[in-house]
Amino acid sequence: MNSSELRQSFFDFFADRGHTVVPSASLLPSSPNLLFTNAGMTQFVPILRGENKASNPSVTDTQKCIRAGGKHNDLEDVGFDTYHHTFFEMLGNFSFGDYFKHDAIAYAWEFLTVEMKLDAERLFITVFEEDDEAYDIWTKEIGVPADRVARIGAKDNFWSMGDTGPCGRCSEIFFDHGADVWGGPPGTPEEDGDRYIEIWNLVFMQYDRNEEGVLTPLPKPSVDTGMGLERISAVMQGVHNNYDIDLFKNLISVACRETGIVFGDSAEADVSLRVLADHLRSVAFLLADGVLPSNEGRGFVLRRILRRACRHGRLLGKQEAFIYKLVDALVKEMGGHFVELREMQGNIEQVIRIEEERFIKTLDKGLKLVEQAVSDAGEGGTIPGKTLFTLYDTFGFPTDLTADILKGSNIGLDMEGFESCMEEQRTRERAAWGGSGDASLPKARVEPG
Ligand code: ALA
Repeated sequence: MNSSELRQSFFDFFADRGHTVVPSASLLPSSPNLLFTNAGMTQFVPILRGENKASNPSVTDTQKCIRAGGKHNDLEDVGFDTYHHTFFEMLGNFSFGDYFKHDAIAYAWEFLTVEMKLDAERLFITVFEEDDEAYDIWTKEIGVPADRVARIGAKDNFWSMGDTGPCGRCSEIFFDHGADVWGGPPGTPEEDGDRYIEIWNLVFMQYDRNEEGVLTPLPKPSVDTGMGLERISAVMQGVHNNYDIDLFKNLISVACRETGIVFGDSAEADVSLRVLADHLRSVAFLLADGVLPSNEGRGFVLRRILRRACRHGRLLGKQEAFIYKLVDALVKEMGGHFVELREMQGNIEQVIRIEEERFIKTLDKGLKLVEQAVSDAGEGGTIPGKTLFTLYDTFGFPTDLTADILKGSNIGLDMEGFESCMEEQRTRERAAWGGSGDASLPKARVEPG
């Protein structure tokens, strides 16, 4: 089953059970203190809080998500493990005061074991440690043996969208990828291994958290679930690595064609190819939703992701712009469901090309400066803030790009020194700026990355 078919089966399953299929919301949430849409429930926050009335009591969708900044940030893991992405699709079913724990659990189990025909013995469940109700539903009604249901604390089994907003206890479903992958079930010392991968999170939305951390009950207990399309596709396609699913394989093969690299020949090159495939999706979808590269806020995250991708292109030996040429393959993979990608293809390609060409001009010089700074710092040393600033300001290297280059080394970055150089520059700019008369315009507020 390819990922498009899987997406459709999910919609059909929930539509047959009274859910209305709704479109994904934009990656740009209306909430001012959230950088990007990072979960399926983001668009439903006003409904969960009772501020808007739900036109349908239960809905299903796939939500475009970006986790590259803020509370949920997976940027550093991309390419190095098998199942994190900066951009991913979250399949979800939602109840706004309609059904609650019992049906949420029963639907998820039926979808996985009957519809997808997964072996029940390969599924492992977690519930919030005090949630006897969820524990009993799993063990007594569904019949999952008690040794495959773990009670876990709030860190993993109490889900919140951010520091404030709707939240609640949750129950997660893990898939066991088999004994040849290292790792243990959640709650064991080996839980960080890749053998047991979380595929679906069922959140029993019950509270709203305010700025002081106080929880007040939501008007109606609700359900918010999220299953990563890429992860369930990997399970259904019998692969352990998300980057081996149909969609990524096709993107990687076009990246191979453009770079002349053979996938599987070198572990380092494979990481770069995966990062390229991942970052291409974030960049293209952000552009499709109207973000443009810039030096602040959302546009800066976009620029940082694209520059990281450019550097991986360089690691693969590419001297000229080429990432824009991968967009066509992405549109073929995903433009059927996400029409915005198809409609914006020309613009997306053009902006990526301009950004790439501009950055390539300074990339080599910047890389040389990093090399020099590394040799000046020596083993265990630190790159001074002033050098980080020159890299940023003159060569267009955001600090996270420099950090990405140094990953695995034991060289530190003087971030404090960098921040004070930035502050000095701001002061200089303010002093030189006569003002345009619109000084009272509010500055866009974004959550720090
Ligand atoms: N909102 C839940 C999550 O993102 C489903 O995991």
